[in-house]
Amino acid sequence: MVMAPPPLLILLFFFFFSVPATSKTLPSDVAALRAFKDSISPSSINPWSCLASWNFTSDPCRPETPSHFTCGIVCSSAGRIVSITLDPAGYSARLDTPALPLLAHLDLFDNSFYGPVPDLSSLRSLQTLVLASNSFSGAVPPALPSSLQTLDLSRNSLTGPIPAGLALPNLATLDLSFNRLSGPLPSSLPPNLVALSLRGNSIAGSIARPTFERLKRLEVVELGANRLEGKLEAWFFLLPSLQQVDLANNSLTAVEARRPGGAAGSGGQLVAVDLSFNRIAGALPAELAEYPALAALSARGNRLTGQIPWQYRWSKKGAPFRRLFLDGNFLNGKVPDGFLAPQQGEMMAGSFGDNCLESCPGSVPLCSPVQKPDWLCKQVYRIGQKRPRKPSPTPGVL
Ligand SMILES: *[C@@H]1O[C@H](CO)[C@@H](O)[C@H](O)[C@H]1NC(C)=O
Ligand SMILES: *[C@@H]1O[C@H](CO)[C@@H](O)[C@H](O)[C@H]1NC(C)=O
Repeated sequence: MVMAPPPLLILLFFFFFSVPATSKTLPSDVAALRAFKDSISPSSINPWSCLASWNFTSDPCRPETPSHFTCGIVCSSAGRIVSITLDPAGYSARLDTPALPLLAHLDLFDNSFYGPVPDLSSLRSLQTLVLASNSFSGAVPPALPSSLQTLDLSRNSLTGPIPAGLALPNLATLDLSFNRLSGPLPSSLPPNLVALSLRGNSIAGSIARPTFERLKRLEVVELGANRLEGKLEAWFFLLPSLQQVDLANNSLTAVEARRPGGAAGSGGQLVAVDLSFNRIAGALPAELAEYPALAALSARGNRLTGQIPWQYRWSKKGAPFRRLFLDGNFLNGKVPDGFLAPQQGEMMAGSFGDNCLESCPGSVPLCSPVQKPDWLCKQVYRIGQKRPRKPSPTPGVL
């Protein structure tokens, strides 16, 4: 039997959920909104877009006509503009700093705003700044409000280095991917960063410990498609909260790993690592397969030599591999236990193809495409020398 809610609860419900009518907008906020709309090229404001409904014969927070201010803003109960979130309607403008001191969210995603990112440091309440997928140019602004939690400037045409000392204590998400940023990684990053994405830029130099060592909350690191080089050192995979790593399409030459564990249980969260299409030579680190949560690893398209360590077996420590791409290297010896059993190819995505492996015919799904030709493998391993298991670190033919 369903019991009717007691009347007191119903009363409480209305008390908490009937929002008091928003006050009229503070005049200075109306003026700032109007200036914002006026800055946008009128020809880029389609009649069906959000901005077309911004009709200042109405009050923005308490429009007299239902078809006015239908979207794009959020007001506080005191009649202050706290959020501007525009629809992706092709708006085009040089962006000025909006004179909205209580603005917490500014999201202009996927439009045609251009020019430099203005100085927004006066917006002391700003938590979210999303200017992704526009046409902004110039540098990443060095001064940003310290209240910022999310900064997404991805898919623009920003140039120059990542500013050093982005000391934003609350920043959790930093996405500068798919711009034209250059220079090295900065020597420090915001200390409470959770997700860092710098994909698709021209960031060069090495992955140095001082940049990352204080980032205890860092879960996602996306540095793919840059010009990073040198050795990825063992401390990296031991960052305590690290879960996902994309370093594909760089110029790394070596990778090291240490066993996970230790005092803080470091490495226990690591789920996915993509090292594909670098210039990594030497052996595949056996220790990486001992990270208990690691379920996806790609090292395809490198210069790895030697055997696949037995730790990479199908029933490895912790989670089994769901993705394992080691194709396009010079790995030799046998495929580790379990992978070539019938049906295995349907249980995971992966490839051991295009290596120097024994007993890994191209007819087995996980072994396709075929292995490298014998002559090439022999050349790499210089068969006949005294220590065939320790080939020259850089295969000469590359
Ligand atoms: C704004 O609203 C008023 C009153 O509804 C209307 O007369 C006017 O045409 C509107 N302006 C625009 C630009 O739509
Ligand atoms: C790396 O480059 C290849 C080939 O250009 C491309 O197909 C792939 O999407 C890139 N991967 C990443 C993660 O950037």
